[in-house]
Amino acid sequence: MCGIIGIASNKPVSINIINSLKKLEYRGYDSAGIATLKNDLINEKKCSGRVEELEKILLKSPSEGNIGIGHVRWATHGVPNVINAHPHSTENVSVVHNGIIENSDDLKKELETKGLKFKSQTDTEVITLLITEELKKFEPLESVFKTLKKLKGSFALGIIFKDFPEIIIGARRGSPLAVGYSKDENYLGSDSYALKSMTNKISYLDDGELCVLTKNSVSFYDDNENKINKKTHIISDDENISDKGDYKNFMSKEIFEQPITAKKCVNEYIDSLKNDINIYNFPIEPKEIKKLILVGCGTAYHSCLVAKYWFEELTSIDIEIDIASEFRYRNIKFNTENLYVFVSQSGETADTAAALDICKKNNVKTCSIVNVIESTIARNSDWVLPIHAGPEIGVASTKAFLGQLIVLYILCLKFSSMRGEIDKKLYNQNINNLIKLPEAIKETLNLENNIQLISKEFIEARGSMFLGRGSSFPIALEGALKLKELSYLHAEGYPAGEMKHGPLALIEEGLPVIIIAPKDKYFEKTLSNTQEVIARGGKIFFITDNKKDSLSDNIRFGLRVPHLDCFLSSILLTVPLQLLAYHVALLKNCDIDKPRNLAKSVTVE
Ligand code: AGP
Repeated sequence: MCGIIGIASNKPVSINIINSLKKLEYRGYDSAGIATLKNDLINEKKCSGRVEELEKILLKSPSEGNIGIGHVRWATHGVPNVINAHPHSTENVSVVHNGIIENSDDLKKELETKGLKFKSQTDTEVITLLITEELKKFEPLESVFKTLKKLKGSFALGIIFKDFPEIIIGARRGSPLAVGYSKDENYLGSDSYALKSMTNKISYLDDGELCVLTKNSVSFYDDNENKINKKTHIISDDENISDKGDYKNFMSKEIFEQPITAKKCVNEYIDSLKNDINIYNFPIEPKEIKKLILVGCGTAYHSCLVAKYWFEELTSIDIEIDIASEFRYRNIKFNTENLYVFVSQSGETADTAAALDICKKNNVKTCSIVNVIESTIARNSDWVLPIHAGPEIGVASTKAFLGQLIVLYILCLKFSSMRGEIDKKLYNQNINNLIKLPEAIKETLNLENNIQLISKEFIEARGSMFLGRGSSFPIALEGALKLKELSYLHAEGYPAGEMKHGPLALIEEGLPVIIIAPKDKYFEKTLSNTQEVIARGGKIFFITDNKKDSLSDNIRFGLRVPHLDCFLSSILLTVPLQLLAYHVALLKNCDIDKPRNLAKSVTVE
């Protein structure tokens, strides 16, 4: 996803802009650029490819100036090349943008009829030219306000002006934007993570708001052009922030961090002395909740799907799950007796944020389960349940998925207990199992070598299938997603009971089929589905936590993970699938932390 930086300072800014852009690399991008202002000249430098390419350009030809903006671009309009890289500048204005302007074609046509020429294929250049035109009649702030009124779609903007060398203007609608404060220097950034190395004092713009930065002042405005005040947050300093330590890449670090993640997350919510769960400030009395709606995207959505089975087992609450990009356009019948829960690692996913906005507009109670507590989704929810996973840098989500599952399970147990729908013995037992989870994950991670041995069998295959029943079905979806996004190989997650309704036709000699079969009420049924696949030549990789089952010799590979209970099996059976995807991607020399075409935080539709 695109990332924005802006710095207004009493000293040269290009090095700090580059260093901050490097902090934004985790978002996924394909080009980069910077624009600084010196001696009434906008000095724009851009490249396709990585930030280090831009750094090389600056080494040869430094960009001076105490005010500047920078950008890493994830292409939405126009191919990833130098011309389409940001910033987009005219002689008087330079703009960096994260988001999508949905009416850019119409606006471009209007400007072209006025004789204006475009260099790029981007929607952003339209913004640059509109502001340039308005500047002929108005001051910068007024010019920006007038321009924003013409735009449809989403943006986070950073803008500098040739004739106003003291200011940077930022604006936000639908894409996150933060402001950072320091002595003789102020900052604009897509998130606090990008600004962390320069400051821990952060304010967040909300949709419709603008800011004007100078090196020693920051002013905020609402969309009626009124001056407003914004809260300053002191952001947390994550001890395990952005270094890989001894790991080859962030993903392996984050997979192997999962015992720590589990322990930290469990400790945040469980009082082991009282053997009880601590979550307070419910926005709605659990006994009065008629329906729970869980919403997310991608892996976060999969965590919602798993939780559906848990809530159905442990509570009488009606439960609905939806993908955020679907939810936001459905004709939903909102109900104030429902609780709407949004799951998002980044807390900035555009579809999930938009779905939350719709709930807020309909005055219903909302809760978010996030990893970034300063994020937009967290700030806009009635109630936040952090997953405490620490920064997740690898684009493919692993420890955050674990954290999402743990928090959803804890919420389910607490609601069940408060509604008097679980007996004390089972409640205590489940809490004790949660406390044992970190050790069980560690034991599962010790199986890495077995998994590494089979990974090459996925390279040669035409694709693979992941099958499961009950809460193992979403784990099958998650395992397939991991393999797809990391190794670019086709993989499909499917309900094991559904194979005979069509997909069984895909099974051919040697096709890898991963069977996820925990010791639960579906186990025997899953065994029968396994036989269906074996009979047609499928190559079975059987992953279970069932000690009793003598893995039949008709299977290619069997893996047994520790068993805690039928709820936590979903978590433990995910770990081998993460390791499988990781090792297949390694064999294929894929970019483990930044898979092609993907972004860590999808802040556009
Ligand atoms: C997970 O491996 C993917 N990178 C992706 O599906 C991700 O889960 C999805 O984009 C949602 O992101 P979020 O949790 O930050 O909202």
